[in-house]
Amino acid sequence: MLIHAAAGGTGQAAVKVAKHYGATVIATASPDKHEVVRALGADHVIDSCGVDIAAEVLRLTDGAGVDLVLESVGGATLEASLAAAKRVTGRVAVYGLAGGEAAVTNWDLVYKHQVHLIGLNIGILIQSAPQIFRQVMTEMFKLLAAGVLGPGQPAIYELAEGPKALAELEARATVGKLALVP
Ligand SMILES: NC(=O)c1ccc[n+]([C@@H]2O[C@H](COP(=O)([O-])OP(=O)(O)OC[C@H]3O[C@@H](n4cnc5c(N)ncnc54)[C@H](OP(=O)(O)O)[C@@H]3O)[C@@H](O)[C@H]2O)c1
Repeated sequence: MLIHAAAGGTGQAAVKVAKHYGATVIATASPDKHEVVRALGADHVIDSCGVDIAAEVLRLTDGAGVDLVLESVGGATLEASLAAAKRVTGRVAVYGLAGGEAAVTNWDLVYKHQVHLIGLNIGILIQSAPQIFRQVMTEMFKLLAAGVLGPGQPAIYELAEGPKALAELEARATVGKLALVP
């Protein structure tokens, strides 16, 4: 699978869970964060900037593409994610758009990217499918109990430093989760 922003808060958890379940993980991250992602067990790490991500993923998968993309970046990266997913059975789960909006047309899905495109929003998941959320949380607690996922170790900011935390997030200078102390 392909995990974008793998050194981030969500990305780090995703790499740990994916490795636990035996996936081969191709991760993207800024160059100075590669070691963090490798230490989590990612099999391949690609630069998130200035690299043809889709071409690199296809090279690493002998042209097949990945079964699953966790797409939290958006912008031009969404196109790379669609191109990197395996034709017919590949899935692209879209849950963030830090890099901006991107359009996908019905033409794209019929003639260019024959993949499963899935939108995910945790708030809507809780409201609209609480039984699925319950299953996910039950599984999550099992992973916590087994030590697969540990308590987070966020970078901590005073509440008044909120703008600084957001500026660092926007500048892609952060690693892991960020916490504001009220
Ligand atoms: N849908 C949901 O229910 C849900 C729930 C939680 C989080 N999210 C979303 O998931 C994403 C990840 O959340 P997170 O808290 O774990 O954040 P994060 O990954 O810790 O931080 C963002 C990272 O995204 C990468 N990035 C790529 N393009 C970027 C851009 N144009 N501007 C800023 N960063 C960019 C950067 O990593 P590199 O520099 O390494 O490339 C950056 O460090 C966010 O988009 C968030 O909104 C969605």
